[in-house]
This record gives sequence, structure tokens and C-alpha cells, in this order.
Amino acid sequence: MNKTSISNNHWNSSLYQDKHAFVWKYGENLLEILNPKSNEKVLDLGCGTGQLTAKIAESGAEVIGIDSANEMVEKAQQNYPKLKFQIADARKFKLPQSVDAVFSNAVLHWIPQADDVINSINQSLNIGGRFIAEFGGKGNIESIVKALYKALEKIGFDNPSRLNPWYFPSISEYAAKLEKQGFEVTYSNLYYRPTLLQDEDAGLANWLKMFGGNFFKGLSNKEINQVIQDVEKQLKPKLYQEGNWFADYRRIQVKAIKK
Ligand code: BEZ
Repeated sequence: MNKTSISNNHWNSSLYQDKHAFVWKYGENLLEILNPKSNEKVLDLGCGTGQLTAKIAESGAEVIGIDSANEMVEKAQQNYPKLKFQIADARKFKLPQSVDAVFSNAVLHWIPQADDVINSINQSLNIGGRFIAEFGGKGNIESIVKALYKALEKIGFDNPSRLNPWYFPSISEYAAKLEKQGFEVTYSNLYYRPTLLQDEDAGLANWLKMFGGNFFKGLSNKEINQVIQDVEKQLKPKLYQEGNWFADYRRIQVKAIKK
């Protein structure tokens, strides 16, 4: 799910793990909010290559990681052979046993069907169980998205926003969805988190190739490079500092309790 098959992306799990490690490194802060206990059962929803699943397991909690991308689950299992991982779709998964907490880092912005995801989470939690998540919130990567639209329009795309696979809700929009399904939202925060993209000059191009696949479908390599170069040119004054690119991430964090 961490980068799901919903947009038919095929995730390069090694590239994801090695060059985009910030995705799970930043997630360590969310673990403090989760605060797992040794007698608990926890679901890691969209486990990617499993690093945060393993951190949850260090607390002694029984944890299962699920992800819709086969490549990610394989890599996670290879990394942590003693832990449980499974392929599952966040919009319609059913666990054999309910859990005390559902944890999800940097995944839910890939799934616009938020009501279905919340319903699956609701079904998997015990009464009093908690849902802890962080993902892209309203305004996330706004300048990258705008620059992509502009570059695609220049090569003849009509209405490039139709290619946008992401869901970046506001606090009120997301809290209303949770409350509608009976959750009590006990914490929420929307914050700006400029994020260093690894590999110096190539940082933004790598990020676009890893995560922006939906915008490049059907384009030739030449066109893809043209779009990437155009995006770089537009964003250099804003997102490039002292030899490094920074993505204009804005995160939403939520904690909600199943009543
Ligand atoms: C994010 O983590 O906010 C994100 C990552 C890839 C694409 C879009 C958003």
C-alpha cells in the first residue's frame, strides 16, 4: 500500500528502501504517538519495506504488516523473516483477529477512497482501539504538483490534474470522515515539513521518477526527461538550497479512538 497498486505503480522496493529512507525515518516520531505495549496486537497498514513494523515489534507487541504491493511485502519479509507480512488492499481488508491499534505512515495519501479505508480500519479494531496515522495533508507538495501540471500542459496535455493520484485532506475533512464512522478524534495536527531529497542535484528527479509515475504514463523517455527538467527549472528558486532539493511536504497526523 505504501505506494499502492491503485495507480498501477510497480514499486522498486530496493530504490524505495535505499534512496527514500526518509519516508520511514520520519515515521519514527509517529511511533511515539502509537506508544505500543507488549501485550497489544498492532496492524501496520502500508508497511512498505517493514522498518517501522520492526520498530513496533521491538516493543514486544504482536504486529502484522500489510501492503498492497507485492514487491514491498517480499522485501519486508526478506528484511524481517520473523515478522508477519501480508498482501492486502487497504480499502477492503479483513483481519482474522481484531487488533488494539492500527498504525499507518505515509500511505493514506495514495488512496482517495478514504471512507472505504476508514471502514476497513473500523472493522479491524477492538472497541477502545486506536488509529494512528500520518500522511500528506492539505497543501502537501503543492509547488511540485503545480509545476508538474504546467510542464505537462506545455507538452500538450489537457487538464493534467486528472492524472493526480493523491489525496491530501484538511484536518476538518478527515476528522469528519472518522467521526461519521463513529471514531472520536483525540488529536490532529497539520504541519509543514520540508524534506531533504537524497542525491543532491538528482534529488528531485529521483523523487519524481519514484513517486510521479502516474503523470508519465504513455510518455517517451525523452518527454519524461523534458517534463522533469522543466519542473526542476520552475522549482529551483524555491526548493533548491545549497546543493540539495527539498520537497514541500505538509503532513497531517491523527489519533482516533473506536467508540
Ligand atoms: C508524501 O509522502 O507526502 C508523498 C510521497 C509521494 C508522493 C506524494 C506524497
